[in-house]
Amino acid sequence: MFLRIFVRGLFAIPPTLAVFEGDIMLGDTANHIRYLGCANELPSRALPGGSYINAAMTVEACQNYCNTANYPMSGIMAGQRCYCGQGLSLGSDIAPDGNVKCTAPCSGNSRQRCGSQTHLSVFNTTNFVYATSPARVNGWNYHKCFMEPSWDAVLENLVATNQLVFFERNDMRIGLCIDECSKRGYSVAGLQAGRECWCGRTIDDRYWSDANDPSCRMTCGTICAGNKTQICGGKEALAVNLKPK
Ligand SMILES: *[C@@H]1O[C@H](CO)[C@@H](O)[C@H](O)[C@H]1NC(C)=O
Ligand SMILES: *[C@@H]1O[C@H](CO)[C@@H](O)[C@H](O)[C@H]1NC(C)=O
Repeated sequence: MFLRIFVRGLFAIPPTLAVFEGDIMLGDTANHIRYLGCANELPSRALPGGSYINAAMTVEACQNYCNTANYPMSGIMAGQRCYCGQGLSLGSDIAPDGNVKCTAPCSGNSRQRCGSQTHLSVFNTTNFVYATSPARVNGWNYHKCFMEPSWDAVLENLVATNQLVFFERNDMRIGLCIDECSKRGYSVAGLQAGRECWCGRTIDDRYWSDANDPSCRMTCGTICAGNKTQICGGKEALAVNLKPK
């Protein structure tokens, strides 16, 4: 009894502390998130990846949002604006005067600092692994990422054949979508928004616009809800896999 209490006391795991609160220093790292510093925003965006605004913004929430969108870095401005990227754009640099220009409290945790009107508090995930669309999964081949214009042409084309299958799952991954489509006799498996799977029989490239066009705002960059090393389409973008002919 005594020994158990002693051992438990000695090795007790401290309660999880909220991190990046109060005064933080460049290089501070917790839970694989590293504080890189305070960087100036640019008219063209210092971190040009995904972004969102939230009245409950925290350092962890922004970093998690960016990692899910397949970006290792996050930056928060004005207390509640979260931006993502692979690195700071040319012209944006870590300020040499530390946190002087990053003093806005985060809207979701006033003990954390979330940039200012002109600067971003920038963080990076130290063990980040980019998710990919593998060329081949379960014998099927990756084809393309298609944009889904506002009039839903991509999916409507599948619907028009009256052979549509759609399902959404919290453990979605590429192999799961392919297996389910395959089981039902389909030869097209499209993944979207991390957790959606669409099955179809035919794909006519004439009706589908390639989302790899750099001017396209839709990209396949959302990690699969059930496999964080794979990409399952994106917001308004369908990652299509085809059964070999
Ligand atoms: C961010 O972290 C990744 C590893 O997850 C590393 O490859 C990259 O160099 C880091 N970027 C910066 C600017 O520290
Ligand atoms: C997760 O993705 C990786 C990379 O594509 C793959 O090797 C692995 O088998 C996948 N795991 C599952 C359970 O699908």
